[in-house]
Amino acid sequence: MDHHDKILILDFGSQYTQLIARRVRELGVYSEIKPFSIPLQEIRMLSPKGIILSGGPASVYAADAPLPDPGIFDVNIPILGICYGLQVIAHLLGGEVTRAPQREYGRAELQVEDAAHLFAGLGKSLDVWMSHGDHLTKLPPGFQIIAHTANAPIAAIHHLNKPLYGIQFHPEVVHTPRGAEILANYVFKSCRCRGDWNASSFVERTVIDIRTRIAKKRALCALSGGVDSTVAAALVGRAIGERLVCVFVDTGLLRENEAEEVCSFYQHADFEFRFVDASQRFLAKLRGVVDPEEKRKIIGHEFIRVFEEEAKQLGTVDYLVQGTLYPDVIESVSTRGPSATIKSHHNVGGLPDRMKLRLLEPLRELFKDEVRRVGRELMVPSFILGRHPFPGPGLAVRILGEITPERVDILRPADRIFMEELRASGHYDQIWQAFAVLLPIQTVGVMGDERTYENVVALRAVTSLDGMTADWADIPRDLLARISNRIINEVKGVNRVVYDISSKPPSTIEWE
Ligand code: XMP
Repeated sequence: MDHHDKILILDFGSQYTQLIARRVRELGVYSEIKPFSIPLQEIRMLSPKGIILSGGPASVYAADAPLPDPGIFDVNIPILGICYGLQVIAHLLGGEVTRAPQREYGRAELQVEDAAHLFAGLGKSLDVWMSHGDHLTKLPPGFQIIAHTANAPIAAIHHLNKPLYGIQFHPEVVHTPRGAEILANYVFKSCRCRGDWNASSFVERTVIDIRTRIAKKRALCALSGGVDSTVAAALVGRAIGERLVCVFVDTGLLRENEAEEVCSFYQHADFEFRFVDASQRFLAKLRGVVDPEEKRKIIGHEFIRVFEEEAKQLGTVDYLVQGTLYPDVIESVSTRGPSATIKSHHNVGGLPDRMKLRLLEPLRELFKDEVRRVGRELMVPSFILGRHPFPGPGLAVRILGEITPERVDILRPADRIFMEELRASGHYDQIWQAFAVLLPIQTVGVMGDERTYENVVALRAVTSLDGMTADWADIPRDLLARISNRIINEVKGVNRVVYDISSKPPSTIEWE
């Protein structure tokens, strides 16, 4: 997979590290994040065309400051230090970094002193975003100041005869409007990258790579109907065709018409597709269970059993395909919060070991939006690519209390109506995730002249970047009114609809 130019990003713990990687990739150049402590030997093996040192919360002069192998300055690979990264360069090469008299945070106007290199084509003055408590007070020998701001006399530097650059501001954030051009100058002019990283070149290379790796062997994949497993399967299917067998299990906890929709697409795919209707099994196991964690455990366990039974009929299989994405792979030094482990639910936990399968994770280099682009390239339909995330345990964690076929039949149409209205009004694509939840209580209502005592449906819709934090979506009042009206009128057994206005944290996105 190493036929393309690569920029290495050493992570010093900045909240923006992944953003740097995204921006570089948006320029058509592949980038990879590694911990700041990666040994020089390993860097050499990766043979990057450039190294970016990220920002970070530490002070370079602190006793336990994170610092890279100083040998990186001698390998003649262009280096760009951003914020803390700039201070690392200065500190290790003989400059001086001290606490600034005043912390600088927010917008600043950068005055360019040398309009070549990083600032080529960008004019004399630029809006930039600053966020730092330390600053440079002395240039390291051999360096020159190339820009300043009112508060930071040394806001950007470069070495007079080595490809070393440092900037105090953040080019990766949207508040530095011309940041992408600064990064472009670095990756194209200094690092001489080609800019040939895109969805179609990715597909081309990965298909060749998978063919070589798998040779005549067979692979197995559990499809969930979501974006990641579908794109992973489509990619592996393109490479090895029917030697990939995909299994889609209907747990009885899917959304309305989901099994039919997903099957009708997969039936025409490159790979062998197997549909297993295990809904009765799952519902039987869940009878009487109300505890959310117990529901999850039962479903996970049952899923593995169904999958194993299916796999046994196939004879020898060597690989298990999983739709793991880059954010789950990065060994980042940034803290990712307690909910980071949620992601492990997406995988078929425990299976590879039990079945002695090797893992094939063709999307492990990609961010979510890149997966969508690769999916488009592979002709995966937009109804799958644009889908909101759906949890492995499905509707089980959205039916609070006991799961019965009757309660599944109440939640499904309510959820469908919610999605129909979001789609029709153009809100679906602006929302990270939306769904209906069936509450385990009944309330009094009046329909016609009759008193009713029926179920409550809660609507949940959130905006988010990665599911780690989220805010409730501000859906217009008339749309909420229409959804509520339709659910109460069309779904038998519901006489009340409420809207969830909690953010994450302190709430979570799902209710269980
Ligand atoms: P929470 O509810 O923890 O959810 O804020 C964050 C994201 O993860 C999804 N989620 C799950 N996905 N298995 C999954 O595959 C699970 O058990 C699970 N629980 C939550 C959730 O839908 C949201 O996108």
